Amino acid sequence: MNILGIETSCDETAAAIVKDGRTVLSNVVYTQIPLHVPYGGVVPEIASRAHVEKISQVIREAIAAAPSATVDAVAVTYGPGLSPALVVGLNAAKGLAKSLNVPLIGINHIEAHLHTPFLMEEGDEAGPDPLGSMPALGLAISGGHTTWVDMPEYGTYNVVGQTLDDAAGEAFDKAAKLLGLGYPGGPKIDKIAKEYSGGAPLIPFPKGRPREGVTALAGLPAECCVSFSGLKTALLRYVQQNGGAEALAAAGEIPRVVASYQEAIVQAVAERTRAALRRRGYRALIVGGGVSLNSRLREVLGGTCRKAGVPLLMAKPKFCGDNGAMIAALAYYRRNKSGAAAMSLDVSPSLDFE
Ligand code: KG4
Ligand code: ZN
Repeated sequence: MNILGIETSCDETAAAIVKDGRTVLSNVVYTQIPLHVPYGGVVPEIASRAHVEKISQVIREAIAAAPSATVDAVAVTYGPGLSPALVVGLNAAKGLAKSLNVPLIGINHIEAHLHTPFLMEEGDEAGPDPLGSMPALGLAISGGHTTWVDMPEYGTYNVVGQTLDDAAGEAFDKAAKLLGLGYPGGPKIDKIAKEYSGGAPLIPFPKGRPREGVTALAGLPAECCVSFSGLKTALLRYVQQNGGAEALAAAGEIPRVVASYQEAIVQAVAERTRAALRRRGYRALIVGGGVSLNSRLREVLGGTCRKAGVPLLMAKPKFCGDNGAMIAALAYYRRNKSGAAAMSLDVSPSLDFE
């Protein structure tokens, strides 16, 4: 069964065709990042207009790149994300499903990130099977989310931990902005941190452990939750105390500052992951979302999983960022928003795990 997946929740216009929830037959991603760079972040109106301009072409290209595939269903992200951006993909998907006379399936973008480690391309050796990897601990780590979920079986999600404020990707993006490194911040910080030679020691930035019992935890265990607001403030204070970002750059200190900041995020995430892994016996740690591209995070979580004896499942880099393949793939397994009701589905900008 071939599903065409459409994704327009943020700053990527994407479409892909995936066979039987695993094999990516085509994957077209048009990134709008250059359009948002001058503003230092995603501007919803610009995103929406660019999606409108590109969506037909991206869908046509995804279909053309898999010439022998007949499309059996159309899947689309309906949340979470930017409302004016989501609506473009949802409307395109409704129109396409109607004209092809195939079912429409609405997909949760965050759930889809957790399916990315199971994506493969033609010719790849088959990796682990999604259904056989349960129970798993999922970590969705992106620009909008940092959430740990217990997955007792495929498609069931119990949130066990989350950020109390910024998502990890947001924490990277805000730091890069403060240091004048440009947008998006995660890849820039990842790259610059590698220039840190290890001479002077890392700056001991706080690792974001919330206090037990604070109301923001909403009943979740503090050992599985994270807060990045103190880290952000600590960076701001450090920059101010050292004469500002330009002075730090002139002194060649930026690599050490960003390596320290990245390390604080990575260690915070790894520590909470270890705590969540201890809660029950898991068959896998599944990590998905744009921040899973971070090279230091991949290295540290690799060590965490080796020690815990739990396989670490992460996507190929090309499937870590937003794409249509993850939407199409998840739709093969999850049909909770399908059938006649899907045609009247609305966008859900703050959709969570459900
Ligand atoms: O999953 P994604 O493409 O979009 C959302 O669903 O949010 O994630 C985007 C986020 C951005 O905050 C970006 O800075 C971050 O992922 N990111 C990274 C890296 N590459 C992208 N963060 C850290 N290190 C990276 N290499
Ligand atoms: Zn995403």
